[in-house]
Amino acid sequence: MRDILPAERARWRQVEERAHHCAARHGFEEIETPIIESAMLIERGVGESSDAGGKELYRLQPMTEASVPLVLRPEATAGVVRAYHEGHLGAGGVPVRLYSLGSMFRHDRPQAGRYRQFHQFNVEVLGEGSGAIDADLIELGWEWLAAVGLEGVGLELNSIGDESCRPAYLDLLRAYYRPLQDRLHPDCRRRLEESPLRLLDCKEAGCVALKARAPRITDHLCADCARSLAEVRELLQGAGVPHRVNPYLVRGLDYYTRTVFEFQRDNDEGAQSALGGGGRYDGLSAALGFADTPGSGFAMGLERIIANLPGELGGEPRPPLDLLVLIEEGVVSSAGAEVARRARQRVAAAADASPRSLKAKMRSASRAGVRWVALIAAGDVEGRRLRLRDMVSGEQRELDWDQLPEALG
Ligand code: HAM
Repeated sequence: MRDILPAERARWRQVEERAHHCAARHGFEEIETPIIESAMLIERGVGESSDAGGKELYRLQPMTEASVPLVLRPEATAGVVRAYHEGHLGAGGVPVRLYSLGSMFRHDRPQAGRYRQFHQFNVEVLGEGSGAIDADLIELGWEWLAAVGLEGVGLELNSIGDESCRPAYLDLLRAYYRPLQDRLHPDCRRRLEESPLRLLDCKEAGCVALKARAPRITDHLCADCARSLAEVRELLQGAGVPHRVNPYLVRGLDYYTRTVFEFQRDNDEGAQSALGGGGRYDGLSAALGFADTPGSGFAMGLERIIANLPGELGGEPRPPLDLLVLIEEGVVSSAGAEVARRARQRVAAAADASPRSLKAKMRSASRAGVRWVALIAAGDVEGRRLRLRDMVSGEQRELDWDQLPEALG
């Protein structure tokens, strides 16, 4: 977990503002759900066999014996789906487009690009099952990456089938891997029977080599899944979003059906190269005990996006204050406060009422990078006068307190 200090936070804010803008342009509404959810919701949604819903889950100590077991959310999708149903968001017509920005928690091993508290720009569409929705989402993600200035991003796409074609493919996959068990990484050996798709995601050299001859899901899709993948591809082509079908792309969470995708940093072979990812989850609502509702979405990791940004997004960061009111010793602090309040009609301003000499206050004003200082000496208060100094040109002029906002034009 880390602090985002002010110098860095300004950049985060620009990235977030562009997320709000791009999402709004695609008709998405903002939603905020609690960072705490019931353990059952997350385990059913993300899947206990996945890392994020299993060993990496932060569990809260129950407050009383009767407490519902609670966890810190490892991702947003299950909570957004819950909120969609509990808030009857589909009642006004579907699809419903929702986005959010917020913290997620996963108790993973600390390593480059992985944090235990991290932030996602998360986007979901509920109520429509077409590939057109998937393509529109991906286009939104693509536009946002361009808007924040991130270049060299690749998009990998796959379909992992649905309940009518995936079971037969999983059987083929198990049949392929069973005779090779001794050559698998121990975690993969354990996963073979229960979640064989995860074997395709293993980064161990031995498992990567075996994957090259594994059956490909894209050769075993049912007609509906194949059609949906073709539609997504065609729409992405039309939108000018370059992509590559990777028949071995699978995702770390259990709820996906059909389309899955990842935005990846080019020329980056590391396990942490995914900037974001998502896909379709048509079975999730029913798995959580709600009415059957198709859904699709993605999440981008803000830490990884920001770490990969070149240079400054919007020029040099601005100093927090434009103007400081400096009062001489003996001047009541209310005079400084009043003048600062007037200045705030136009610029960011504060008063320095510390018991220091005017000279010392001038030095710190100059270090703070303010554009103006307003000086109030002991003799100025009665006549409500001040001296406004332009710190860039060095020019100084005398005015009434009331004239200050206008002078700052
Ligand atoms: P995910 O692939 O688990 O998907 O996470 C999405 C992104 O969050 C990753 O690509 C990465 O950038 C970032 N991320 C994940 N874990 C960490 C970490 N420990 N430290 C830093 N960044 C991290 C999901 O979370 C799905 N809920 C996406 C989705 C939405 N699918 C459908 N709708």
